[in-house]
Amino acid sequence: MKDSNFLKKHNARQIWHPMAHPADSIANPPDIIVGGEGVHITDVDGNTVLDAVGGLWNVNLGFSCQPVKDAITAQLDRLPYYSIFRGTSNDAVIELGEVLHDFFAEDGLTRAFYTSGGSDSVEIALRLARQYHKTRGEAGRVKYLSLKKGYHGTHTLGASVNGNSNFRTQYEPLMPGCFHIPAPYTYRNPFNETDPEKLAQLCLAALEDEIAFQGAETIAAFIMEPILGAGGVIPPHESFMPGVREICDRHGILLVADEVIPAFGRSGDWSGSRHWGVKPDMMTTAKAITNGYFPFGAVMISDKVAEVFENDTTGKASIGSGYTYSGHPVGAAAALACIAETKRLNVKDNAAARGTQIFDGLNRLKEKYDIVGDVRGGHGLMAAMELVSDPETKKPIDKKTIAALHRATYEAGVMVRVSGPNVILSPSLILSEAEANTILDALDSGLGSVA
Ligand SMILES: Cc1ncc(COP(=O)(O)O)c(C=O)c1O
Repeated sequence: MKDSNFLKKHNARQIWHPMAHPADSIANPPDIIVGGEGVHITDVDGNTVLDAVGGLWNVNLGFSCQPVKDAITAQLDRLPYYSIFRGTSNDAVIELGEVLHDFFAEDGLTRAFYTSGGSDSVEIALRLARQYHKTRGEAGRVKYLSLKKGYHGTHTLGASVNGNSNFRTQYEPLMPGCFHIPAPYTYRNPFNETDPEKLAQLCLAALEDEIAFQGAETIAAFIMEPILGAGGVIPPHESFMPGVREICDRHGILLVADEVIPAFGRSGDWSGSRHWGVKPDMMTTAKAITNGYFPFGAVMISDKVAEVFENDTTGKASIGSGYTYSGHPVGAAAALACIAETKRLNVKDNAAARGTQIFDGLNRLKEKYDIVGDVRGGHGLMAAMELVSDPETKKPIDKKTIAALHRATYEAGVMVRVSGPNVILSPSLILSEAEANTILDALDSGLGSVA
């Protein structure tokens, strides 16, 4: 590793950072992380802090999961790469197919299509949705519906179904045929409705209305996160996703669950869809499938969709999508080890317990500090505090104050993620009770320093 002077001098000078303004990265250089162990990370100055971000919602098993590292090393030694484009396969992906089949059987998802990450998974799922309808003779079903505040990555199809202008405006025009429904976000919504159940019904009514307006026969799929993540951790009322499922079924629209964050235990269940008792038609996964140690993802596909493709005799179901790194054997080996560890440690139950602990703690902080306008979570290890400069008007907090809070929390020993007015928490699922308290204490210090 280069010495710290070199790293600091060159920090953000020759590289542009995703989701950042290049000039801001130069003016306020990012923290340089050089080590990770358990749920902790160490920066270039030797400060070790608890990572309440869990990498980027993906390092569910922590930074030193030896079985995953060993599996990657062994696979690199044996076969570092081979393609699975038509005509060839590799042993690791075949074995993983079986494991994923079993893992998601309860969600009704039995086939996997491999990708290199979450944005790829979204792209593939949306493309397969159109192809499904074309293959079965409804070629007019080409549109997509999604939720405002939803996040589906940054490929152009994903950005087109994204529900946050930050990821859209500078890249417009996006894909035609994408339409958005209000999110079941009780703190701010166009209906001014604070009751989660009533709000869920209003959003479902908006979905029905949009389907009637567009014409069901023109819509391929509805894509949603079972718990909205990057948009600020928005868990809908328990009636919402089942309601979406029922509406989609009634109108012949496929339901794609974007589970890049919740799949593999983060919601306190093995999938976010299962958390709400819903079986989607397709599910996008990535992130925790390899604990973040290798870029990899999988779109899981239901029997209903699979049968249309597998029984096609016209050639329309031939899949013209895929990536050089779809089914990368090192990623597959990492995923095999990761899923085995995920199940062995039963991380979903710890995610549920620690998630409740953190949610309760955040609510106590809301009582203590006026700048905490809203606290969201309570469904596994994903939680957020939305900060306001005035609790009455709900005016969002300014950038400088939230940046100061972020810094003070870091200095108190915990890395959190700041996104707009939200402080987002998504720690590793192996977090202990004491470590959850460390996060809450550091946030208390951070809030205290700016309140
Ligand atoms: C729900 C959801 N979908 C898609 C993505 C995009 O995944 P990636 O960043 O791996 O491309 C993310 C990333 O955070 C996500 O949260």
